[in-house]
Amino acid sequence: MSAAAELAPDLAHALKRLKLRTVREMAPEVLQTAKVQRWSPEELLRTLTQAEVRSRDASNLAGRLRGAAFPVKKSLEEFKVAESAVPQATFEYLASLEWIRAKENLVLVGPAGTGKSHLLVALGHAAVEVGLRVRYFSAIELVETLYRGLADNSVGKILDQLVRADLLICDELGFAPLDLVGGQLFFRVVAAAYERKSLAIASHWPFEDWGRFFPETVTTTSLLDRILHHATVVVTSGESFRMKEARSRAAPRLKAADAVVSAKALKTTRQEARGATQSSGRGS
Ligand SMILES: Nc1ncnc2c1ncn2[C@@H]1O[C@H](COP(=O)(O)OP(=O)(O)O)[C@@H](O)[C@H]1O
Ligand SMILES: [Mg+2]
Repeated sequence: MSAAAELAPDLAHALKRLKLRTVREMAPEVLQTAKVQRWSPEELLRTLTQAEVRSRDASNLAGRLRGAAFPVKKSLEEFKVAESAVPQATFEYLASLEWIRAKENLVLVGPAGTGKSHLLVALGHAAVEVGLRVRYFSAIELVETLYRGLADNSVGKILDQLVRADLLICDELGFAPLDLVGGQLFFRVVAAAYERKSLAIASHWPFEDWGRFFPETVTTTSLLDRILHHATVVVTSGESFRMKEARSRAAPRLKAADAVVSAKALKTTRQEARGATQSSGRGS
């Protein structure tokens, strides 16, 4: 194959000015191929523009993924719905991402290891893939980010930036108690996002215990009122997935009879979990 001729300097310059980088990079070879294979002018234009569009889409996606700052990679495909306390219909509704377009919230409440972070990250990832803007924070990171804005009076600006995301994720709410200022800053995030953007929150504390990590002056009632006004609530009660996995690794060592007993116990736990699960609406 003969080496592709270099692009004429005026063309290279114009493509650079127009920031059509992929066209500029591919043009010498594509032009050569088009000549040899006698492509129609339309075919040539299509090949170059499609390549540019594809590479822009890919770099926008990569940028949105970096911007989302997910701590791990999790997908909805990897989430075993039947082994979780999330009802299938609720999972499908969440996976449809309709709630993000409708600016509704999601609150996951349940003990450690029940898939809260997995779901948050996987839903966030799916949202990024369809072109939405997402930002993941642990509650501590979120409050620290705003705290930094207090020093130079830029809290308002930071809030504006945060609610530019279509979906703001706040994981691990209640891991550490918030001080008075932290509580007020969190309240400002919820107020700023209210009916404008989607908030997805996970906590291992049931709602009635939220007063434990918010300072008294931040009334958790008015906070919950805003969060739950348009929200899907999922109680991910049940056994820790990590523990289940650990036990299944140890399972060969169990005697057959023990295994039957523990399988029965597991089934009961799951049924209880299902009973405790609810979706859509207020209350814990
Ligand atoms: N239903 C599930 N299907 C597949 N993996 C799960 C499920 N639930 C939890 N996991 C896995 O178990 C581990 C703990 O889940 P995680 O989402 O971190 O729990 P939580 O945030 O509720 O403490 C993670 O590796 C996660 O991917
Ligand atoms: Mg978690």
